Amino acid sequence: MIHTRRLLLVILLIVEVRPAFAQAPVWTETAPGIWKATAGVPESYDLLKASGAEPVREAIAAITPAKFPLSETDITFKVVDGKTYLRFPLQKEEQLYGFGLNFQTVHQRGKILQLHVDHYGGKDNGRTHAPTPFYVSSKGYGVFINSARYLNVYAGTAVRKDSKNAPLAKDRNTDKSWSSRPYSDAVEILVPAAGVEVYVFGGPTALDAVRRFNLFNGGGYLPPRWGLGFTQRVKTLYTAEDVKKEVAAFREKGYPLDFIGLEPGWQSKSYPCTFSWDSTRFPDPAGFVQALLKDNIRVNLWTNPYVSPDAPNYKAILPYTGSHTVWNGLVPDLTMPEGRKIFFDQLQKNQVAIGVSGYKIDEVDGYDYYLWPDVASFPSGLTAEQMRQTYGLLVQRYSADLFREQNKRTFGLVRASNAGGTSFPYVIYNDYYNHEDFITALINSGFAGVLWTPEARASKSAEEWLRRFQTVVFSPMAMINAWASGTKPWSYAEVAEPIKQLALLRMQMMPYWYTAFARYHFQGIPPFRAMNLEEGFVAETKKESGSTSLEENPYAEAVSKEIKDQYMAGDYLLVAPLFAGQQSRKVVLPKGRWYDFYTGAFAGDGEVITVSPGLEKIPVFVKDGGIIPMMQPLLHAPASGQKVDLTVRHYGEKPASYLLYDDDGETFNYEKGEYSWRKIIVEKDRSGKWKGSISAPVKGKPNTVGKVTFECMTK
Ligand code: GAL
Repeated sequence: MIHTRRLLLVILLIVEVRPAFAQAPVWTETAPGIWKATAGVPESYDLLKASGAEPVREAIAAITPAKFPLSETDITFKVVDGKTYLRFPLQKEEQLYGFGLNFQTVHQRGKILQLHVDHYGGKDNGRTHAPTPFYVSSKGYGVFINSARYLNVYAGTAVRKDSKNAPLAKDRNTDKSWSSRPYSDAVEILVPAAGVEVYVFGGPTALDAVRRFNLFNGGGYLPPRWGLGFTQRVKTLYTAEDVKKEVAAFREKGYPLDFIGLEPGWQSKSYPCTFSWDSTRFPDPAGFVQALLKDNIRVNLWTNPYVSPDAPNYKAILPYTGSHTVWNGLVPDLTMPEGRKIFFDQLQKNQVAIGVSGYKIDEVDGYDYYLWPDVASFPSGLTAEQMRQTYGLLVQRYSADLFREQNKRTFGLVRASNAGGTSFPYVIYNDYYNHEDFITALINSGFAGVLWTPEARASKSAEEWLRRFQTVVFSPMAMINAWASGTKPWSYAEVAEPIKQLALLRMQMMPYWYTAFARYHFQGIPPFRAMNLEEGFVAETKKESGSTSLEENPYAEAVSKEIKDQYMAGDYLLVAPLFAGQQSRKVVLPKGRWYDFYTGAFAGDGEVITVSPGLEKIPVFVKDGGIIPMMQPLLHAPASGQKVDLTVRHYGEKPASYLLYDDDGETFNYEKGEYSWRKIIVEKDRSGKWKGSISAPVKGKPNTVGKVTFECMTK
């Protein structure tokens, strides 16, 4: 009897510890066009919990309605041995994008990845600064796995024996069409946990799915206007006097500057950090910060989160830190309110309260030899793996609160993020420095719900410096990071003038950038994104019998390939950078008419063109009917309440209708309705002449628009 009971107990235990069951997922529409299903028992900590992201339901509801985009019966979930197996169908001609901030590839079908927060090590293998577990299909839907674990992804690589479309076995001896990687009809994902939440985002277009994902994560952050100006990060051991001199040089030479970044040397000790000013280099921090603010320059401070034994909060925070150290500094468990308070109080009192405008939060991504190992433990009970996948989210979330409490917007830098981080005021950067790959990362950031800056540091030649700077200007954060090099925008004398003109162009385009970010915030449209999200960019190139062959149709051939060196910026711009050593390049112009940004001349329609713009220009094209609102080339972003005159450029032959976003540019009052969208219309009058108009300012709302003039670029 006892024996039987024991046996029963053992069987029960086995069943409990090692359940193995396949599950037909049950999908619930949690927001319009967004469905959720649960596999097994999801963990209590995940990416959405770590980030605290809240869906913007009204904005999601305003997107074109969508039906569940996949065949439900072709999705399977299974929990075996404490791990979750997910399978999603793939069709033959489908392409996949996303799976985080990749640097070398845009097409992800055929990849095997382990999504793991890390510094980028030169390979698109899943280890990256934002390994967002979200993919988008060219068929117009997205899938998100809400897990704070390292996920193994087989993105159309594995073939099951019960596959509906299993490829035929072929004979390698004789059959030339034999392939070592036969066609796979599924994305399969292994989650090392006994359950997980899965979300499916409807289309109908891939951009709609991306928009839903971004809005589900709270919508993009709306930076303050000054965040879209120019920023210089100074040499690491600069003193207050050095910084003041540098700021004065920008002014005297006529280069714009909105915020200046101090690197590790502002702290008394760094790596690990004291989070306290160094009194020899910065004897009067408050006076220093305030003096710069008077000159319209904000201060951004570098830090990593590892607490030095000499930090004032070391003893207090000790009980709320992980088992292992980083450079002998403590790792705060930022999921614990007590530890969090001790950590952020120091930053608040010492820096934010005296007027510091933001942070650059370094080293939260990885390099395994520096960071806590996977065997580390944390007092909250979270594992080292969960902490690694979410630390970037945690530092962003809680540092952002410091500024929100003051009703001030910030805009800073961070080296790690993940799903859920879309609404945080941070741009990702890293130590890698391949210019082409920086552009591919910019493209992929739009699929990963993050922002990325292709920062310029130094260059081997004036040509490279100019080429890098051109892309800096057409990116989320226009920055030189001179922490090691001390490079200034004017350091390469031969190109100092064109660099200045580019920096001023960045300032002129501020109304355009600001509206693009407002669209990210309110509508989820990434301000910088892949060609694959562009209407008119057709990826299908089915060869119909009797039609021209692919070779004779370079456009069809081009769009069937991966395009990773040109991108969309804001509503209307297509940016096609040149890299050092290149005199000309091919640009794929999607269907629809496109115009040269500088001259307004017609450039092409659904074709591949070759451009040789010379060293001083980065090729930029504008969609037909495009509107680019520009302001004067100010040296600083307009201050709150400052009115600026606008020149509204119109391109092409189509009439235009554009909504220009406006608010105070600095606070969160827009969340209480303190904003407006001013309608700009450019159309032909009866005599066939172009006429432009802008709607009246909305009563009682902030109005920064002065005189408006219109310029028709296409003659
Ligand atoms: C690196 C960071 C650089 C710079 C440097 C300062 O980790 O990526 O941008 O801040 O630290 O030590």
